[in-house]
Amino acid sequence: NHKVIFDTDPGVDDAIALYFALAHPDIELLGITTTFGNVSVQQASANALYLTRLAGYRRPIAQGVQFPQLKTPGKHPEFVHGNDGLGNLHGRSEVGGQIEAESAAEFIVKMARQFPGEISLVGVGPMGNLALALKLEPRLPRLLKQVVVMAGTIDEPGNVSPVAEANVWNDPHAADQIFTAGCDLTMVGLDLTHQALCTPEVQRRIEEIGTPLAVIVSGLMDFFRKTYQDNQDFVDPPVHDPCTVAYLIDPSVVQTRRCPLDVELHGELTLGMTVADLRG
Ligand code: BDR
Ligand code: CA
Repeated sequence: NHKVIFDTDPGVDDAIALYFALAHPDIELLGITTTFGNVSVQQASANALYLTRLAGYRRPIAQGVQFPQLKTPGKHPEFVHGNDGLGNLHGRSEVGGQIEAESAAEFIVKMARQFPGEISLVGVGPMGNLALALKLEPRLPRLLKQVVVMAGTIDEPGNVSPVAEANVWNDPHAADQIFTAGCDLTMVGLDLTHQALCTPEVQRRIEEIGTPLAVIVSGLMDFFRKTYQDNQDFVDPPVHDPCTVAYLIDPSVVQTRRCPLDVELHGELTLGMTVADLRG
């Protein structure tokens, strides 16, 4: 059983990862922390609230950082996730509920102190909340059991620049601080997630589940399919963020290598590049 804090910018694939984590019996989702990224942080929190309530779950949701640490904020990628971050879902129902008063970083620190060595922090957005939590509590790398992030890329090209993946690109300095903090960290990058494709067969199996939630997930995948066909030369869309949850539940589904990781913070062409030292 994994105690998880889910740090997210929902986000079409974030939404599916969230449902995966909420539904899986091996995962105890302690709370959700939100960040800017695919959408504004306010929209990310509204989406987290909406997604959980819609599916009948209640979890603490703590709102996090609004901007990158140093980088000039960019535009939110509406062409990837829709204006609302959830593929322009129409007719959102009123779900009620409120987010927490404390910040995302405060929530992470509080929970890490309450359950030392037990929490897996799963991050599927830019890493500003994690970096801020590290500033508040320098012992964080030891207090957390592990950190699993959808971020970066090694051999696969980037998705926002020739070398940078979106979550690192959106706040490279935060990513750098987390990668070099001494956490037990697993980077689930594009090398992996570009192999995790939602084929029509996979989507058909989701639809066959037949629940209202399955219909929503399939609608999200329709949106993502079009996004990736129109903008990135993909036929079937990659489901990035759920790969972190899959890895957590069963690490044997992926191949990993242990190595030092770092983020390039300079250069017009290389900003946000993840560098893995594979020399052994
Ligand atoms: C990552 O960026 C976001 O668009 C996705 O939600 C995912 O976390 C992929 O690069
Ligand atoms: Ca995401």
